[in-house]
Amino acid sequence: MSLKIFSSRVLWKVLNHGVVTSSKPLRAGDAAAAAVGWRSVWGYHNIEKPRSQGPDRAANIRVVDLRSDVMAQPGPAMRQAMVKAVLEDDLMRGEEAVDELENITADMCQMEAALFVPSGTMGNLIAVMVHCRERGDEMIVGDRSHLHIYEQGGSAQIAGVHSVTATNLPDGTFDLDQLESKIRHDYPKPYYPRSRLICVENTHNIQGGRVLPLTFLQEVRALADRYGLSVHMDGARVMNAAVAQRVPPSTILQHTHTVMLSLCKGLGSPVGCMVAGPRDFISQAVRCRKALGGEILKAGILAAAGKLPLLEMVERLEEDHRNAKTFAEALLDCDPPLFAVDMAAVETNIVRFHLQEPSLSPSEFCARMGQVGEGEEAALGQGIEVLMLSHFGNSVRAVWHLGISPEDTQLAIQKMQFVASQFLEEKVRGQ
Ligand SMILES: Cc1ncc(COP(=O)(O)O)c(C=O)c1O
Repeated sequence: MSLKIFSSRVLWKVLNHGVVTSSKPLRAGDAAAAAVGWRSVWGYHNIEKPRSQGPDRAANIRVVDLRSDVMAQPGPAMRQAMVKAVLEDDLMRGEEAVDELENITADMCQMEAALFVPSGTMGNLIAVMVHCRERGDEMIVGDRSHLHIYEQGGSAQIAGVHSVTATNLPDGTFDLDQLESKIRHDYPKPYYPRSRLICVENTHNIQGGRVLPLTFLQEVRALADRYGLSVHMDGARVMNAAVAQRVPPSTILQHTHTVMLSLCKGLGSPVGCMVAGPRDFISQAVRCRKALGGEILKAGILAAAGKLPLLEMVERLEEDHRNAKTFAEALLDCDPPLFAVDMAAVETNIVRFHLQEPSLSPSEFCARMGQVGEGEEAALGQGIEVLMLSHFGNSVRAVWHLGISPEDTQLAIQKMQFVASQFLEEKVRGQ
C-alpha cells in the first residue's frame, strides 16, 4: 500500500523518522514477517511470545491470543520511545508531546483540532456530551454499536442524552429510510426529544470488523445536513477501514463532523484514544474531559507511545487483515467442514464465524481451542492454546493484532484443524 494515505506533513515525518535500517540479526518472528514484506526489525512486534505458565505445564506450549486487538502489547520500539520521552521531559508533564500528537491526529483526519483522551469509551461520551448539549437532546445510534451496547449507557446515565436505535445491517450500515424515520421533526413541541446526532461505527466491531462504504457515509452526511444534525464516528478502528479501502483516513472522515479513534487497539499503544473535530467542538471537549477526570498529567510518555503508531504503523494493519483472511480461508477449507464463514465479510482484522455442528457450541469450541487437548502435543509437536471469544448471534470471534504474526496464524490454523478432527472422532465414537 502506498504512503499516499498520509497527508504531506505526516508523510514528511514518516520519511524522516520511519526508516530505521537495522544491523541487528534477524530474530524468531522476523523471517515470517519478512516473508510478507513487513519489517519487524523495526521492532514493532512483541517478539517474546507468551507461553503457558505453571509448574505442571510443559515448556513447549504456545499461546495465540485472538480475543481482541486490545491485547496488543507495545513492542521494543514503542517502549524505547516511552523511555526516551521520560528522559527528555524534565518535568514529565509532556504538554508539548501531547500537543504534537494532537496536531498529527488533526492533520491525518484533516480536522481542525484533536484531543488525547484515556479511552474510547470516554472519547465517545465526550463527543455525545458536546454534540448534545441541551436537556432533551437525542442521538441516533446503531442497535449493535459499541456505544449503545458496551459503554454502560454512559450517554444516558452521565450525559443525560436519550438514544434511539437504528438497525445495524450485517455490514454495519443502516437502511437510510429507516434512519431518516428516526429523526424527530416536532421541535419545539414539548412531547418529543430533539434529534441532534447520528453515530456511526467504522469499522463495525460486533458485525465483524466491517468497513462502512464511502457512499453510505456520504449519504448519512447528506441526510444529517438536510436536518441540521451532526455525525460522529466511533472510529476505534477507522485506521483499519482506511487501510482496507486504501484511502487516507481523511477521505472517510470528510463525511463526519467528529471522530474518536483508538491508539491502543491494532495500533498497539498501551493507552489512549484521540477525539478530533472542529476547533470549537474540541474546546468544549477539553472541558468535558476535565469534568470526567480524563485529563492526564505527565502524559508525555503516553503521547510518545501514541505518536509512533500514527506515524509509522498504520500500514502494518494490512498484515493483520491478511492474517485474518488466511485464517478465514482455512476455516472454509477445514476437513471436516465444521465452520461457516462469509469471506466477503472478512474485510479487516476480525473474523466472525459459525459452527455448523449444533452439538458444538461456540463456548465449547473456544474452550477446546484454549486448552491443550489429549494427544495434541504428539500430533502437532507442541501444545497450542488459541484464545478466542464466543460472540454475538452464536458466533465465534477472532481478532488479529500487532502481537500475532503469520507464524502464529498458522499455529491457530493447526489447532483449529486438530480441534475439528478430534471433535469429529469423538462424535463418530459416540462420545
Ligand atoms: C468500536 C469500539 N468503540 C469503542 C471502544 C471503547 O474503547 P475503550 O476500550 O478504549 O474504552 C471499543 C473497545 O473495544 C470498540 O471496539
